[in-house]
Amino acid sequence: FPVAVVLPAGGSGERTGLSTPKQFCTFLTRPLISYTIQAFERVPWIERIVVVVAKESHSLMTDIVEKFNHAKVKIVHGGSTRHRSIFCGLQAFAETDESLLHKPKVVIIHDAVRPFVEEDFLHKITMAAKEQGASGAMRPLVSTVIATTSEGYLDHSLERAKYRASEMPQGFLYDIIYQAYQRCSESDFEFGTECLHLALHYCGTNAKLIEGPPTLWKVTYKRDLAAAEAVVKETLS
Ligand code: C5P
Repeated sequence: FPVAVVLPAGGSGERTGLSTPKQFCTFLTRPLISYTIQAFERVPWIERIVVVVAKESHSLMTDIVEKFNHAKVKIVHGGSTRHRSIFCGLQAFAETDESLLHKPKVVIIHDAVRPFVEEDFLHKITMAAKEQGASGAMRPLVSTVIATTSEGYLDHSLERAKYRASEMPQGFLYDIIYQAYQRCSESDFEFGTECLHLALHYCGTNAKLIEGPPTLWKVTYKRDLAAAEAVVKETLS
């Protein structure tokens, strides 16, 4: 059955403190996003990768696709929030003209800044999505989550063992997640930050959660780029 990927890469990467968005920062031989694309291109059963970028990054992304010969990639323009960018990516499969991309049965949503995703985990996510409608990676929490008052005092804390961090990749039956985003767009995308929750809220689709490996980690801060470089070196040696 056809499987495609949407890679949102339309963020500005403010938390790294660098002028270039982190997904375009180069280490060793490639920009970060090219390592992530490569991880998906190595998987023979993935047909298409839609990369969503801000308009300003279009030519940069086109250069990366050409230079590293990313034949499965199609570039589309994103929006002002992550949800908006993902919807733009999903719409690439729903366009009506003749040259449209083949509508997938399952779509995997992943972040451009998580380059170390592996085929066996993608397979687990894809099969769970096909069977249950939605699936996602989770990890144990490393810190306790607290809520603070507006004055900056502790309001309450959550029992850490009961909670998990939601990670990427996530997988969906395409028709379900497209419908969820369509409905969400009608209410101006006023809906949290969690795609799995969106599928549950708008389509009643329960997500199967699967514990993922620590390598799913998201390159967020400047020091993470150095850590990512170390991982690439280690896997090459
Ligand atoms: O900001 P955060 O780290 O949660 O971003 C996760 C992913 O969503 C990144 O790959 C980022 O480029 C993407 N994003 C996007 N469009 C936005 C904001 C974030 O595609 N407007």
